[in-house]
Amino acid sequence: MVARRARVAGWGKYVPANVVTNRDLSETLDTSDEWIRSRTGIAERRVAGSDEATASMATIAGRNALAVANVAAEDVDCVLVATCTPDYSMPATANLVQAGLGATRAGACDINAACSGFVYALALGDSCIRAGLFRTVLVIGAETFSRIVDWNDRATCVLFGDGAGALVLRATDEDYGLLATTVGSDGSRADLLLVPGGGSRMPASASTIEDRLHMVRMDGREVFRFAVGVLPRITEQVIAAAGWTLDDVDLFVAHQANVRIIQSAARSLGLPDEKVYVNVHRYGNTSAASIPIALCEAYEEGRLHDGSAVVLAGFGSGLSWAASALRWGPTPGRVGLIAPPGNAFQD
Ligand code: COA
Repeated sequence: MVARRARVAGWGKYVPANVVTNRDLSETLDTSDEWIRSRTGIAERRVAGSDEATASMATIAGRNALAVANVAAEDVDCVLVATCTPDYSMPATANLVQAGLGATRAGACDINAACSGFVYALALGDSCIRAGLFRTVLVIGAETFSRIVDWNDRATCVLFGDGAGALVLRATDEDYGLLATTVGSDGSRADLLLVPGGGSRMPASASTIEDRLHMVRMDGREVFRFAVGVLPRITEQVIAAAGWTLDDVDLFVAHQANVRIIQSAARSLGLPDEKVYVNVHRYGNTSAASIPIALCEAYEEGRLHDGSAVVLAGFGSGLSWAASALRWGPTPGRVGLIAPPGNAFQD
């Protein structure tokens, strides 16, 4: 018997229908398919429709994940949404998702750790389950970066895309689920990747809008350098914390920002291609949504099985980073809960 922890009971994703290819971008920007592909691996990305936003995409991803888990919305104890592109400054996007799902007994809040946010949210959901506070937590990563990139800045707008992914976490006393997590932050380098305007530091005004201060600013080269350094480090840390070796790892699912960053990390770790998941060519960088979308697609492609040893590793604005060691499974329908679902606050 192992200690109570959180296992992955369901997974779901949503990406907008509107596909924007590199060629589409080259019609309005001084860029090319060749430049974008060779520097980043990105071929196309999804852009939300005018009737869509982070909460609506997150709600669909969450509903899909609950369906896979065969969990009713009323049985969710807490909805955590990792996002840095919320619908509003307040309320949290998670409140909108909770209402949209009909998760009437759930608490809800957002977590902002930018592109690392999903792994942070998983760690928090897992901790609450371990502590006995919740039994069922819906963890969602959702972003609408198309609304905060400067479509005139070729150095940033080509990199990002929109979408949402979700996992249902449930309490288990079996040897599945989140085994270890590591997180970190270096706020002294916050200026490398930020949106300067629109917060309490620089509230919206005519001049912030004129100066395009509500859009993403990035030092791409420095962020690249940071990413290729931090990814192998946190992967090794979390593998050791889980009691694994690199040979034990079945699938490495890193934040999908740039294929060169992922390949560089895999090379320095000595992980062969078949153990490295990549789908950045389809969606670009969807920030907090990239890891759960990647997990859904890895499962659909038959690359995740009951008992697979998976490493999740995120990095991004903050600077921030987070990694988890996860034992995938068991497949929904094969296992019961250690207790009936409920809301700890109402027990
Ligand atoms: N199309 C064509 N040229 C472009 C371009 C584009 N979309 N974007 C930038 N360029 C130009 C630059 O203006 C620069 O021109 P210059 O030399 O005349 O000034 C040139 O390409 C080279 O720029 P450089 O920054 O050296 O390219 P790079 O090889 O470092 O690649 C990034 C740029 C952004 C792809 C790369 O730095 C990167 O991926 N960084 C990490 C970004 C990231 O993942 N952020 C999110 C983290 S969560």
